[in-house]
Amino acid sequence: MQDKQVELYEVGPRDGLQNEPKKIATTDKIALVNSLNEVGFSLIEATSFVSPKWVPQLGDASALMAGIERKKGVRYAVLTPNMRGYEDARNAQADEIAVFGAASEGFSQKNINCTIEESLERFRPVVKAALRDNIAARGYISVVTHCPYDGAVPAQAVLDMAEAMLDMGCYEISLGDTTGHATPETVSALLDVVAKKLPPKILVGHFHDTRNRAVENVMICLEYGIRKFDASVSGLGGCPFSPGAKGNVSTKLLHDKLTEKGWHTGLDRQALERSEALVAQMGITPR
Ligand code: HMG
Ligand code: MG
Repeated sequence: MQDKQVELYEVGPRDGLQNEPKKIATTDKIALVNSLNEVGFSLIEATSFVSPKWVPQLGDASALMAGIERKKGVRYAVLTPNMRGYEDARNAQADEIAVFGAASEGFSQKNINCTIEESLERFRPVVKAALRDNIAARGYISVVTHCPYDGAVPAQAVLDMAEAMLDMGCYEISLGDTTGHATPETVSALLDVVAKKLPPKILVGHFHDTRNRAVENVMICLEYGIRKFDASVSGLGGCPFSPGAKGNVSTKLLHDKLTEKGWHTGLDRQALERSEALVAQMGITPR
């Protein structure tokens, strides 16, 4: 990576659409991923292999994966909470999978219906199987500073989960500000613990933009050496189990703010605008 290079991962087709109440046709989702192929991302999070009872919008994950155009150099990643999800993801030829846990018991229960300890037990065989199959595994940690159910989250809980995920074989940890309540102060307090212990190159910032602080939070992460960030086309997104949370930071907004400050994302802004136009055409608006 050249100096002042940052990498933006596009999570819109997954985080962006999972919270959308309006039924979106699989063909529209496929068109969105195909259009994002032109932007220059190295990773597009395409969908989740989760229970359709919990997240009905992504119940077409296999059809979506079968329908998208695979562009050379792009990894198509998916979320897999358990072995069932992993098997389906592998059959759908996902390039990468992600397990997703939480740093608070309250959010773990609401999101994946188990305790933190139980979630780690579920993730271990998933990551093991992925590594056996040469599929890279990422670990997401939700509610890294603030939980909608339990309140403030201690940084040590995030570090503990990150270390457990790395131990099982995850190559990267995405730090999720699920609610969008993080501030530069709370992000600094988190990274004083987590980025002091773990190499920043394996950390990713994932900020929802509920209070319009996501860009500032990204800037703090840069000070700690973090160079990878999740972002979402048109700022779509939100977790159905995080009430009131808005979308991820918009990919275009983040690209623009980083570019202003002399950082390079390598993304094609015009192609990104075309993807945004497609989102608008699909009648999806960020909340
Ligand atoms: P459960 O009900 O405890 O699990 O759900 P279960 O094993 O008892 O299964 C219940 C039913 O679901 C069964 O079907 C299973 O077959 C089925 P039934 O027998 O009742 O007909 N099932 C599945 N079906 C398809 N694919 C699967 C699967 N697993 C079970 N993989 C479970 C546990 C984790 C499955 C459930 O809670 C779930 O799917 N939760 C979804 C959570 C989710 O997707 N949340 C949003 C993504 S996380 C997020 O947005 C945060 C993030 O962006 C970072 C941040 O912002 O912080 C990543
Ligand atoms: Mg998220």
